[in-house]
Amino acid sequence: MQICKVESNRESGSSMTPEQFLEFARVLPEPLLLVSGEGQLLATNQPVADILGLRRQELRGKMLFELVTESSNDIVKYLQACSSSRAMVIGSLTLRMNDGQTLICRSQGAVIQPWSPESSALILLRLENRVLASSNFVLLNEKIDELAKEVQRRKQAEEALKKANQELEIRVEERTTALQDTLNELQLTQTQLIQAEKMSSLGQMVAGIAHEINNPVSFIYGNLHHAHKYTQDLLKLVEIYQQAFPNTLPEIQRQVEEIDLDFLIQDITKLFQSMKVGTERIQEIVKSLRNFSRLDEAELKQVNIHEGIDSTLMILEHRLQARHEYPEIKVIKKYSKLPNVTCYPGQLNQVFMNILANAIDALEASALNSQYSKVNTQKTESQKLINNNPQIQIKTELLDEKWIAISIADNGLGINEQVRSKLFDPFFTTKSVGKGTGLGLYISYQIIVEKHNGQLNCFSVPEKGAKFVIKIPIQSVS
Ligand SMILES: Nc1ncnc2c1ncn2[C@@H]1O[C@H](COP(=O)(O)OP(=O)(O)O)[C@@H](O)[C@H]1O
Ligand SMILES: [Mg+2]
Repeated sequence: MQICKVESNRESGSSMTPEQFLEFARVLPEPLLLVSGEGQLLATNQPVADILGLRRQELRGKMLFELVTESSNDIVKYLQACSSSRAMVIGSLTLRMNDGQTLICRSQGAVIQPWSPESSALILLRLENRVLASSNFVLLNEKIDELAKEVQRRKQAEEALKKANQELEIRVEERTTALQDTLNELQLTQTQLIQAEKMSSLGQMVAGIAHEINNPVSFIYGNLHHAHKYTQDLLKLVEIYQQAFPNTLPEIQRQVEEIDLDFLIQDITKLFQSMKVGTERIQEIVKSLRNFSRLDEAELKQVNIHEGIDSTLMILEHRLQARHEYPEIKVIKKYSKLPNVTCYPGQLNQVFMNILANAIDALEASALNSQYSKVNTQKTESQKLINNNPQIQIKTELLDEKWIAISIADNGLGINEQVRSKLFDPFFTTKSVGKGTGLGLYISYQIIVEKHNGQLNCFSVPEKGAKFVIKIPIQSVS
């Protein structure tokens, strides 16, 4: 150990005789011993004798271990360490004093003549009183080495601990991120479930209402025919009476005039006709409601896509008509001849609903925009263009023997690139709170792409409108 091996200036080959040693040791106040590599005392100075309480002559020829409590083994080991080191080797010796007491000394050992085949090594020991040293003989260098190793080990352990700590932190961070992701996913799933639940209860309600309306309407429709016929019969009877008794009682004559019998006869047929048209319309609406909810068709089914689109339009009819500040939205259908498509009809209708509702929202927004620009004289070209004639164009097409396409285009505000990149993200909405949930297109994408192995794309020229194109396989789901 650096701190304990004090480099001496001696040449490794230099030597000193016991006589020369005594010569200079005599004048030095500290206890000095010259010992052989085996531990035999070759010379000592007076301070050594003083410490031990002996005379110097008594020390001559003695072995070092006879003067100390440490074992000869330990002593030899220490001396070997001294003779094999170029540095000063520090050790501890417990001297046995003449009065029976012991004294712990620190020793500094240095070889002054190395071992050779001809002669033993000569080692100079310098003693220093050390009260606190251990009572066992120790090679402090070894101890220090051990301590250094221990320090090293601890450092390594600390390093390892630090590294483990860092790894742990990283893992904790990873776990936290994973947990956050899971939480987000769960929240999304929960919202989807709620949405699906809402759609399903809406569907149930719609189907329920449709069913409830259907029955009474059927009575009316069924009886309308008979009612018409009975009235015709009664009118016929009146006619016959009139022919048989042209000059009836004045009382009857007055009544005939009062009820304007001729007009009544003419009008009642029209009336029945319009009642018939009305009930037929109710029946159609009921059919559309049932078609839209398609509760009975949660399973894959072969359906006519156009019926789905039409029933969805029927549900949205009230939003297409002119209202307050909004002009009527024209729906232009360009249907091609399509085969029946194997799909989940209820879900597909939900997609039509989401896309059509968005188109209506965009057209309404553009209508408000145009009102604003009417006040604002600096109307831009595009604003003029947008708002003249709000319309939705629905086109269906057979792409090849396996695929069909449905495109729904509006001439509303359109979608800029920034919005377009987030369109299908869950919860992305540009609408005000309460109006937009940001789930419509996300759910539509899931239904088309995941449920039907199809594609859903959006094309838009900002300020001129947006077009959503659904492509689905005719035999869409495996
Ligand atoms: N036809 C469209 N024209 C303009 N913007 C649209 C159209 N369809 C969708 N968007 C934009 O996409 C966003 C997301 O739509 P959607 O997922 O249905 O959620 P929401 O309708 O609840 O906002 C809308 O907020 C709107 O900004
Ligand atoms: Mg929407």
